[in-house]
Amino acid sequence: MNARLVALEILNEGISNFFVSRNSWKKTSNLTKQDRAFVRRLVYGTLRYYFEIDKIIGTFLKDAKRTPNDLKNILRMGTYELAGMKIPPYAVVNEYTSIAKPEFKGLVNAVLRRISEISDEINLGSGLPLWLYDKLKKDLGNIFPFFLEKNEFHEIYLRAVNKSRDEIIEDLKKHDIESYSTHFSPWGIRCVEGIDLDGFEQFENGNFTFQDESSQLVGIAVNPKSGEKILDAFGGVGTKTTHLVQIEPKAVVTYNDINKSKISIAMDNFKRLKKFPSKILSVDVMSSTLSEKFDKILVDAPCTALGTIGKHPDLLLRLTEKDIAEKAQMQLKMLEKLWGYLSDEGEIIYSVCTVTKEETDDVISTFIQNHSDAVCVDPFDGKMNFEFGGLGIQLLKWMEGFYISKIVKKEIRG
Ligand SMILES: C[S@@+](CC[C@H](N)C(=O)[O-])C[C@H]1O[C@@H](n2cnc3c(N)ncnc32)[C@H](O)[C@@H]1O
Repeated sequence: MNARLVALEILNEGISNFFVSRNSWKKTSNLTKQDRAFVRRLVYGTLRYYFEIDKIIGTFLKDAKRTPNDLKNILRMGTYELAGMKIPPYAVVNEYTSIAKPEFKGLVNAVLRRISEISDEINLGSGLPLWLYDKLKKDLGNIFPFFLEKNEFHEIYLRAVNKSRDEIIEDLKKHDIESYSTHFSPWGIRCVEGIDLDGFEQFENGNFTFQDESSQLVGIAVNPKSGEKILDAFGGVGTKTTHLVQIEPKAVVTYNDINKSKISIAMDNFKRLKKFPSKILSVDVMSSTLSEKFDKILVDAPCTALGTIGKHPDLLLRLTEKDIAEKAQMQLKMLEKLWGYLSDEGEIIYSVCTVTKEETDDVISTFIQNHSDAVCVDPFDGKMNFEFGGLGIQLLKWMEGFYISKIVKKEIRG
């Protein structure tokens, strides 16, 4: 099947649901490796620059609001190829005209031809909606350029699990996959051009898993020790749970998540990676009573995930200003609730894959103000040389946007 048609199908579904599901990528399974990479780049790029692209095509349409979405998606993809990927106009205009429905062919041809005439001068800018651009510029200050730069690429990171990362890098080389060791995580591998798992046994055998370098640093911050009781309160698909077990198999790790489909993926991951937590819970931490206290609690809280827009640009379609405030309120409540299950001298490690001030420093400073027995310490105990401002560390300057804070519970003597 034509690669652009497959991309169009994925985009039609993704834009109407404001979400590109894992399942939609299965549509690429009959394409060549090269075409699969092209489809990924085209879909990601069109979503990443959706708002800017719509401004451009809007100037050539009589009534953009009433133009059917599948037609607009053809124009969006064509515009991204012309202005973002800088593909020669003759190929783009003809290809999109040929895949358009007969009644739209004339319009597609005319609009893309006109855009191709100015494509050299088009700058797709930050790709962020204006409200978000202004907000993040203010929140991030002098590290805002790092945010834009990091979210431009879609690099893939792996964590070596049951084989050394050097061995995995060698195996990847045999499959023509260029990869490098990460600088900060001792388990991390960076794959520049992504990785196609087709026929790649190393994954099924559990020798590695997918995990960004920033997320691997959470394991270092938790620093599990033998015999410690650790709760991974929002275990999700189990990426960090398996990491904690990998770092210290004798730690007593409890996995929890509320979402049934996440739990099911987590179970598969535990088996594939051969890293099993000691206990598995599936409770709503906000409304349940836990039966024990923990030495450490990992609060990898639900968040706006703005540190991952390079990988999940579709989230830009659904994010609103209200979401940020709501998430921050919920994160604070989650910390409040879990504080009660932390032993004296215990530690909460709070992490979010986002960059807004509300969900990071503001949550932690409010929490600290409300709890005289809570003290923030450097999450890496000074071992990583990141600048620690007293509340938490935003990793954006060094890697993907990710925030980690460590709160210690001090025993209050009367
Ligand atoms: C950021 S994700 C966690 C990712 C996970 N730590 C990992 O590394 O794969 C947040 C998770 O919190 C879960 N969650 C949200 N609200 C919850 C609640 N009230 N109780 C338990 N889990 C919840 C979601 O299902 C989601 O999987």
